[in-house]
Amino acid sequence: RKVHRYNFILRETSFTRLCTTKKMLTVNGKWPGPKIQVCKGDTAFVHVHNAGKYGVTIHWHGVKQPRNPWSDGPENVTQCPIQPGKSFTYEVTFSDEEGTVWWHAHSDWSRATVHGAIVVLPANGTTYPFRKPDAEQLLILGEWYNGDLKEIIDNATETGAAPAESNAYTINGQPGFPNKCSKETTYRLHVQYGKTYLLRLINAVMNEEMFFGIANHKLTVVAQDGAYIKPITTNYIMTSPGQTFDILLTANQPPSYYYIAASPFFDAGSIATYDSSNTSAILEYTGIFAPPASPPYPSLPNITDRAAADSFTNRLRALASPAHQINVPKKINKRLFVTVSLNQILCPGATCGGPNGNRLSSSLNNISFATSTIDILQAYYRSLPGVFTKDFPDRPPYVFNYTGDVGDNTLFTHQGTNVTMINYGAAVEIVFQGTNVEDGEFHPMHLHGYSFYSVGTGYGNYDEITSPKTYNLKDPPEVNTVALPRNGWVAIRFIANNPGVWFLHCHLERHASWGMGTVLIVKNGPTKETSIRPPPPNMPRCS
Ligand code: C2O
Ligand code: CU
Repeated sequence: RKVHRYNFILRETSFTRLCTTKKMLTVNGKWPGPKIQVCKGDTAFVHVHNAGKYGVTIHWHGVKQPRNPWSDGPENVTQCPIQPGKSFTYEVTFSDEEGTVWWHAHSDWSRATVHGAIVVLPANGTTYPFRKPDAEQLLILGEWYNGDLKEIIDNATETGAAPAESNAYTINGQPGFPNKCSKETTYRLHVQYGKTYLLRLINAVMNEEMFFGIANHKLTVVAQDGAYIKPITTNYIMTSPGQTFDILLTANQPPSYYYIAASPFFDAGSIATYDSSNTSAILEYTGIFAPPASPPYPSLPNITDRAAADSFTNRLRALASPAHQINVPKKINKRLFVTVSLNQILCPGATCGGPNGNRLSSSLNNISFATSTIDILQAYYRSLPGVFTKDFPDRPPYVFNYTGDVGDNTLFTHQGTNVTMINYGAAVEIVFQGTNVEDGEFHPMHLHGYSFYSVGTGYGNYDEITSPKTYNLKDPPEVNTVALPRNGWVAIRFIANNPGVWFLHCHLERHASWGMGTVLIVKNGPTKETSIRPPPPNMPRCS
């Protein structure tokens, strides 16, 4: 069990893409940022110094951080931001995740440029549950904005309108063909004929699900969100923001160039006005061959092809082998039924400038999550009153038909910082119900502090009698992010064995910033070993 140390310096760095130069916040001047590589069971201390212009936090997405929410990172949930000129050292403990996870900023929209990979190798003396690959390679999907992110989001918050779309999707920071000014800088993945590569694919995109594929090559998916799955072979992958996939690629085609590409998927109607372009990279075999005039391009599903998205996702199953056992709760003692909506907040006197004079918003159980000024973790730990209330409803306060394809503009939410209290060790089931109010699209629901079993999903309204009969309790995938259809449901289960204050939210940035989130507080167990650790002495101060 090793201890690793990393230094992250946050600073504005100049970058040029699509013939546009701008300054953006990076870690150590890199985009994507530096890779963290550990073995299962190790610990990493990451010293973050903020040399930027505004307060920032970092989150370790998919790392459970047992008993240590102090280092989890979401701004105003587990900590106050690291202010410019200040530092904070995160202690990142790797317990049982294995495979690829990642880190990203968790303040405003800064994660667009502040993110990187975390590679968790098998613990010493153990190995992959598949033949050892000849080499490994990171592929990080992202988004490039010509404009300043902070201005875009501040402007959207002020006017109540939808934020501007990105100008290109990227692979390892490069837009690639056919984007403007991208030919020379397209990312190249070099392979040798006959070798097998482990590709670690991270979806760091801000606001869209993506399809991904490589021309003429099959992909064998072996892990998802830092847990092994039964290997599946496919021509394409559907990945939600927040998700990670480990993929085996064998270079078995005639040595040449082949396009690697990703294209957005959105199952949405009228308000889907987001970037619909593709991004690409090149798979380049080493050796001597005549470069093709136009390399083959993968055929990816159409932008609205929900059947293609589902047929990929529905094949994912936990490996569930003796060496990688799973433990799906069969009897449940804490249930939550959570509606997930895009909707509006009623603004007094049409001052908000949004559609119908109101402001676009989003909610869980009709509550639009409002961040507090003191972080919820500190308020809970020190029993500070007035920061949050322990009354997040376990069902929506009123019921309507969630699945009509017409939005209901008369439904308004209210804002609050309402949390759910969960007993240590409880077997929890959460059913998320997409409501399709104001249209919407697939929501990648993400939980901090845990991975969970994605036991069931379907379209239409969840039914308490018939839906559970379709559950997979044998080998459901163990994930930290799950795609919820806008007019369907997803059920997840987990054992609440990690005490702490854990954010639960949609990983589409525009939905999260409109309030599509809540907090689960898992109470301490009976012993010191089942209780939240004391805070480190240098937590950032709240102003
Ligand atoms: Cu990857 Cu709360 O996020
Ligand atoms: Cu969402």
